[in-house]
Amino acid sequence: MVSLVRPCLALLPGFAAALAQGWSPDNTRDVSAEQLAALREDPEAFIDSQLNPPPTITLWDGRQVPRLPGFRHWISDGEFCGSIGFRHQPGTDELPAHVLGHIGYAVVPWKRGRGYAGAALALMLTEARGLGMGRVMLTCAESNAISRRVIERAGGVLERSFDHPAFPGDTDLVFWIAL
Ligand SMILES: CC(C)(COP(=O)(O)OP(=O)(O)OC[C@H]1O[C@@H](n2cnc3c(N)ncnc32)[C@H](O)[C@@H]1OP(=O)(O)O)[C@@H](O)C(=O)NCCC(=O)NCCS
Repeated sequence: MVSLVRPCLALLPGFAAALAQGWSPDNTRDVSAEQLAALREDPEAFIDSQLNPPPTITLWDGRQVPRLPGFRHWISDGEFCGSIGFRHQPGTDELPAHVLGHIGYAVVPWKRGRGYAGAALALMLTEARGLGMGRVMLTCAESNAISRRVIERAGGVLERSFDHPAFPGDTDLVFWIAL
């Protein structure tokens, strides 16, 4: 049974094992080495950084922009399975152009194919509904048939495609899920 939990010391060994095998919780950048170093140096500070990330984000073109309100959960079946993040602009379902979706997720390779991403997304949609959102946007690479399946199984409707700003030549798909 899958649940979403706040990043915590109890699941940190599983998170570290995933990083050590090259898994990255960030789908736009490989952060495995830097996060592994940080959590080994100070586990409690690392958990705190997951719960209270910096107020700005550096984009692919070097621009610094304010971080939108949001949170990151870890996906658990008793062990660390992956992570799923949510961000939004309170009071509207719209996002700034540089934000590629309200929700992003990744499951560690050895927990894939068990319905965990689908279950985690369903739980996150319930939270988004609870925050008063009417719909959420998700994007995935056109080549990512598995993530596309997860999104469409959750009710995602394809709106458009676009050239990924960080990965020239890659096409991404924009989906909206009505809540
Ligand atoms: C995408 C990802 C999160 C999916 O995690 P998961 O827990 O294995 O996903 P689920 O088991 O919930 O669902 C996978 C679905 O894809 C289907 N699927 C598997 N291989 C597939 C393929 N080659 N083509 C199409 N669908 C496929 C599965 O049958 C399942 O659909 P079903 O529920 O209808 O049977 C995981 O592969 C991952 O972390 N990938 C790397 C990061 C990533 O791509 N994140 C998403 C960025 S948008």
